[in-house]
Amino acid sequence: MLKTVRYDGANLIILDQSRLPGEISFEICRTVEDVAEAIIRLKVRGAPLIGVTASYGLALGIIKYQGSVLDRDLYFQRIKNILASTRPTAVNLFWALQRMEDIYKQSGDLSTPELGRLLMSEAEQMFAEDIKINEAIGEYGQELLHKDSRVMTICNAGALATCGYGTALGVIRSAYQRGKIEQVWACETRPVLQGSRLTVWELLQDRIPVTLITDSMAGYTMKLGKVDAVITGADRIAANGDTANKIGTYTLAVLAHQHDIPFYVAAPLSTIDREIDNGDLIPIEERPAEEVRQIFGINATVPEVNVFNPAFDITPHDLIDAIITQQGIIKPPYLNRL
Ligand code: MRU
Repeated sequence: MLKTVRYDGANLIILDQSRLPGEISFEICRTVEDVAEAIIRLKVRGAPLIGVTASYGLALGIIKYQGSVLDRDLYFQRIKNILASTRPTAVNLFWALQRMEDIYKQSGDLSTPELGRLLMSEAEQMFAEDIKINEAIGEYGQELLHKDSRVMTICNAGALATCGYGTALGVIRSAYQRGKIEQVWACETRPVLQGSRLTVWELLQDRIPVTLITDSMAGYTMKLGKVDAVITGADRIAANGDTANKIGTYTLAVLAHQHDIPFYVAAPLSTIDREIDNGDLIPIEERPAEEVRQIFGINATVPEVNVFNPAFDITPHDLIDAIITQQGIIKPPYLNRL
């Protein structure tokens, strides 16, 4: 699998996910602003990857900093704010930036080049840790599936959304290695099609059997008895287990409940926001209307129509049968267990 983000010794090299699967191309980010723009435009996306990329961005900003050491704290805050203001929902972004700031504050009197190296090595470490975390999530999560399971997912919570292996797709990968996956149902995930463009591409590369459906086909597919479990990723999990994830996840959870199908969320602990009591308090990103009005730049409607385009929704905790983390499976009640 291609590396989603890396530092080449001078710049950040980002796999441009907005062009997949038609084109495999890489974006060179030379500045913090370039990194922020790549996150806003979904060239890099997925909660864990947004966090790690922003960390690389902070390190890059310090490496390229030409100002005096006296002004460096202010500059650090400025670039941290640029990165923090890219996308509001995935808490991994704020978690990762905080981790970088903690390293910055503990670093003492380092020269700017030394500080840059320190922060870059922290970002590299986060990248490596994320893969291990996902492998652990996969190991735990596969226990929830029986032989020949047919699993539905939405969006892309795979290697592309992380530093490798994936969360929801990590569970599917681990289960597939044990002969537990007969079929993955990938919901296409309108408006920007992370399911059809990214999840399908990623699974087919690993030869994991996948069938694409449009989002509105999920209920009927369940009704036909063709789904054994639903597994999704998460962008933020409140203290009570309410979970923000890609728009359409809530619909899947309601449908799964209606059809007695278990609904699982797979996410690293950095996705849990203990400061937020419940899902109503999670900020939901609203994205440009053009994403809904158009498909691949072609009008799909009357160009001036009003559009509502929330990028995420909240699945209430009582519709979630388990939350799979790198430290094990959490079952309800979530409040104190999370
Ligand atoms: O808008 P996106 O593509 O960043 O949304 C991604 C998701 O909703 C994923 O399910 C979530 O971030 C988990 S990724 C491991």
